[in-house]
This record gives sequence, structure tokens and C-alpha cells, in this order.
Amino acid sequence: MVGRHTVAAAQAAGHDVVVLSRSTGVDVVSGDGLDEALQGADAVIDVTNTTTLSAATAIEFFETATRRLLAAEESVGVGHHVALSIVGIDRIDASYYAGKLAQERAVAAGPVPFTIARAAQFHEFAGQLLSGMRGPVAVVPTMRMRPVAAREVGAHLVRAAEAGASGRARDLVGPRDEVLADVARRQLAFDGVRRPVLGVRLPGAYWRGLASGSLRGGADAEQGDIAFDEWLSSADRARS
Ligand SMILES: NC(=O)c1ccc[n+]([C@@H]2O[C@H](COP(=O)([O-])OP(=O)(O)OC[C@H]3O[C@@H](n4cnc5c(N)ncnc54)[C@H](OP(=O)(O)O)[C@@H]3O)[C@@H](O)[C@H]2O)c1
Repeated sequence: MVGRHTVAAAQAAGHDVVVLSRSTGVDVVSGDGLDEALQGADAVIDVTNTTTLSAATAIEFFETATRRLLAAEESVGVGHHVALSIVGIDRIDASYYAGKLAQERAVAAGPVPFTIARAAQFHEFAGQLLSGMRGPVAVVPTMRMRPVAAREVGAHLVRAAEAGASGRARDLVGPRDEVLADVARRQLAFDGVRRPVLGVRLPGAYWRGLASGSLRGGADAEQGDIAFDEWLSSADRARS
């Protein structure tokens, strides 16, 4: 999702881009094709992902992928590793976010100069949740968020790569505070779908973390310009 925007932003800035994914014959978990694909690269921007709510699965994926990438980068002389992570997850060391925190630790402990760039949830987040849900009523977790356009995240990552290794880039969040259930209702209404949305508070560290508001980031975060309702009617949404 964010990868195609990152590639487009890098190409628009005049960079030669090599796309690494299983669909192009490179696997960052097994390491297949990695050394060859990285030959001559100045920087790697890691936006790989696995979809899971299991902490063990997420940790396994992000640690393995990061270690493989960093080892290959070191061996071919890549000078900068940029990793995309998520705003406000520090105290939510559970479920998927446990994997992202493990990724950040692996990057920071690794052999390659790095920048960890955190972004808030993409505008696509509500739609991804709705599309995986059956039944007449959509039940979504209580979640206070500040969604951002994946297009702006892609451009942010390219600027971070160009700036050189800084350890940590400024957080990037969207322009408005939102609540997931409201965003989901607006998306369904925009699409002409009559389906009630119910926001529910769930127990457990992960769900409490989503409700806590920490994912909205702090006052020092950089803000994107594209608000959710603007994105809804944009060409980016049609393509996603
Ligand atoms: N979604 C959000 O709201 C959000 C917000 C902030 C940060 N992020 C972060 O952004 C990153 C990307 O998220 P996304 O939603 O754009 O992900 P996505 O659409 O699921 O894309 C993930 C990419 O990873 C590649 N990939 C997966 N396993 C791989 C493997 N073993 N080897 C090589 N490539 C592999 C996939 O390509 P193939 O299938 O072809 O391999 C795909 O291109 C994640 O790290 C996520 O934590 C997401």
C-alpha cells in the first residue's frame, strides 16, 4: 500500500528504484535474491509487512526480515536503512505492535546506519477493517487516531532516505483527530452503503492502546495536509 507511493515519490525525485518483494523474486525472510537486488544501492526503505494480530508471528517476521536485510546491506555496502514504523506504540508492546517494536530494536542494534520513521495509520485503515468483516453490523474497536495519506508517508520516507541516517525522523500524523467508528461511518456513507457501525471497547493491552489516544502522536509531530474526507474522494482511494 505505502510501497507504491514510496516508489513513485523516489522516482519523481530522480532516484533509480529497485523494488524488492516476493512478486519481484526477492524474499526478505528467506533471503532469496536479496544480495543481488541490493547491489549498488545507497539506501533501503523497508515497508514490508505481515498481517497478523499474533505478537509471536509479528516478532518472528519483523525480526527475521530486518536481520536478513541488514546483513545483506552490510555485505554489499548500503549506507542507510530506513524503517517505517508506527506513531505512539511505545507502551503498546502487544499483538502486531510487539512486532514493530522488535523491528525498531533490531534496526537500532544492527550494523547499518539507520533512520526509524514513524507514521500514523493510513486513511485506508478503516476500509481494510470493514472489508474483512461479515454481517449486517460492522463492529470496530474503539480507536482514537490521526490518519494520514499513504502518499504523504511515501514522500516522507524518501525525504528521510535523502537526509541520511539520523536515528529517528519526526513522526508523521494526519491533519485531524479522528475516531475509527466515525471514519468507518463516513466511508460507508460516501460509498452509499447502509450498514451500522458499532465501536466497542475490548479488553487487553493492544485494544486499550488503540483506545488510549497515544497513536495520535504528540504536539511535535509533523502533520500531513490530506484529511480523511479529502482522501475519500481522491484518485488514491480509487486505486487502493
Ligand atoms: N497500514 C497502516 O495504517 C500503517 C501505518 C503506519 C505504518 N505502517 C507500516 O507500513 C508498512 C507497510 O504497510 P502496508 O500496509 O503498505 O503493507 P502491505 O500493503 O501489506 O505491503 C507489504 C509489502 O511487503 C511485501 N512483503 C511481504 N512479505 C515479504 C517478504 N517475505 N519478502 C519480500 N517482500 C515481502 C509485499 O509484497 P509481496 O507480497 O510481493 O512479497 C508487499 O509489497 C508496515 O511495516 C506497517 O507496519 C502501516
